[in-house]
Amino acid sequence: MLLTTAFVLHVVSGALWTGATLYVAYATLPRAADGTLGRAAFVDAAHRLLMVTRWTGVVLPVTGAYMIWRLYTPLDLLAASARGWAVLAMLSLWGVMNGLVELGVLRMRREVDPDIGWGTYMAEGFPVDALGGDEPTAARLAALSRPYLLASAGLAALLLVDAGLLAGGVPA
Ligand code: HEM
Repeated sequence: MLLTTAFVLHVVSGALWTGATLYVAYATLPRAADGTLGRAAFVDAAHRLLMVTRWTGVVLPVTGAYMIWRLYTPLDLLAASARGWAVLAMLSLWGVMNGLVELGVLRMRREVDPDIGWGTYMAEGFPVDALGGDEPTAARLAALSRPYLLASAGLAALLLVDAGLLAGGVPA
């Protein structure tokens, strides 16, 4: 029962996070870059992606660790099968993608608050209220976050392929 609950929470969180990342990169980034989307809307989308990243960033490793404990102990099993490799890839992709989203939104925030410390950023993210005046433009913010968001979207796609391989029954 607990394992089933962990699977459900894990899959829901993974879907929400990868979906949100792909949506922000596909639907809001190009529109912020060409000025069709206002900067408040773009900043709000980025901030909300950061919040989804942080909430799922608790649920995914906790449920994932529990699933590893139930399905892959002794831990040698992780290195000894194709499924184990897929799980290790999942863990690594999650770590890198998390860092990219955090750094991408931090780059945007630093354009407004150059001296913002890590603690304040962790507590606040990039709320729309932090914007003031007319600078930076949406295009400038999009240019700053573009490499991070595109790389995150690429990793989200890889994560979905990885999850699909596990779901499709890669042999143990
Ligand atoms: C801390 C990071 C993560 C860990 C430790 C982890 C671990 C695991 C483990 C152990 C399984 C069960 C594998 C099996 O059935 O043999 C699993 C399944 C799954 N994971 Fe993750 N995972 C992580 C992150 C993610 C992320 C970011 C996604 C986003 C797509 C994701 C999506 C899935 C899905 C959809 C399944 C179900 C696959 C199936 O049907 O068997 N996981 N994960």
